[in-house]
Amino acid sequence: MTTSQRAVATVDLDHLYTLARELGTEAARLIRSGREAALRDVDTKSDPTDVVTAMDRACERLLRERISAARPDDGVHGEEHDELPGTSGVRWIIDPIDGTVNYLYGLNHCCVSIAVEVDGELVVGVVTTPAGEQFHARRGGGAFVDDLPLHPAQPPRVGLALVATGFGYLTERRAQQGQVVAALLPQVRDIRRLGSAALDLCNVAAGKVDAYYEWGTHIWDWAAGVVICREAGACVRLPADDEGLVVAAAPTVAGELHEILDGLISPEWGVPA
Ligand code: IPD
Repeated sequence: MTTSQRAVATVDLDHLYTLARELGTEAARLIRSGREAALRDVDTKSDPTDVVTAMDRACERLLRERISAARPDDGVHGEEHDELPGTSGVRWIIDPIDGTVNYLYGLNHCCVSIAVEVDGELVVGVVTTPAGEQFHARRGGGAFVDDLPLHPAQPPRVGLALVATGFGYLTERRAQQGQVVAALLPQVRDIRRLGSAALDLCNVAAGKVDAYYEWGTHIWDWAAGVVICREAGACVRLPADDEGLVVAAAPTVAGELHEILDGLISPEWGVPA
């Protein structure tokens, strides 16, 4: 047993899982009911297209308050506020609204994404939509949407795969991502850009798309979806560094897709491996 496996074994995963699911439900209710008021207060971050609503901040505050009340020694890493260091070895990784641009425009494809890490190992993932649909998984326990088990699809080859992707907010990165998607499009069944990395990953787990790739995302975008994908049986490739290439795919096409993407992403773009 490695040190981190020992740490995971001594933590009450069921408690973390139940708490993460309760928090996801409460936070998703908040973003649904508070949308109209939140849209009166919209700010921008890395670029004028990179928005943050008052609800992103309010929802993260709610999650931090609840986590600190229930588990005062845990750390919290979220999209909208500073890192809260912990002492327990447990860290919560939260994106209060993934798919903020969809939320801004009133498109329902967005979610609250909550992951839990124990000594650096992702062990719980919960992704909840404003409609209340909840994707969830805990390490070793399988992946589900509400009560239904999730399984990836089995496309026979990349040429018949439906591939989801996303684009960052920075102009230069978008231009590079556009080049890759243009070269990939003739090699796959089709491309989807739905606007939420967390839900893209859940869709891979559910077999609703065959694969997802993107670089330039952050751990809060993908942490929960990665646990759900792994537990569903999808192949996941993660970068060593934040903002590197994340790929999740049905096992039947993962190898072929990795090879294509590695050939398309230029080393000069500095995408961390
Ligand atoms: C974004 C979404 C989008 C992805 C972007 C992310 P946000 O997260 O997940 O699908 O393409 O890279 O930044 O800004 O809505 O939390």
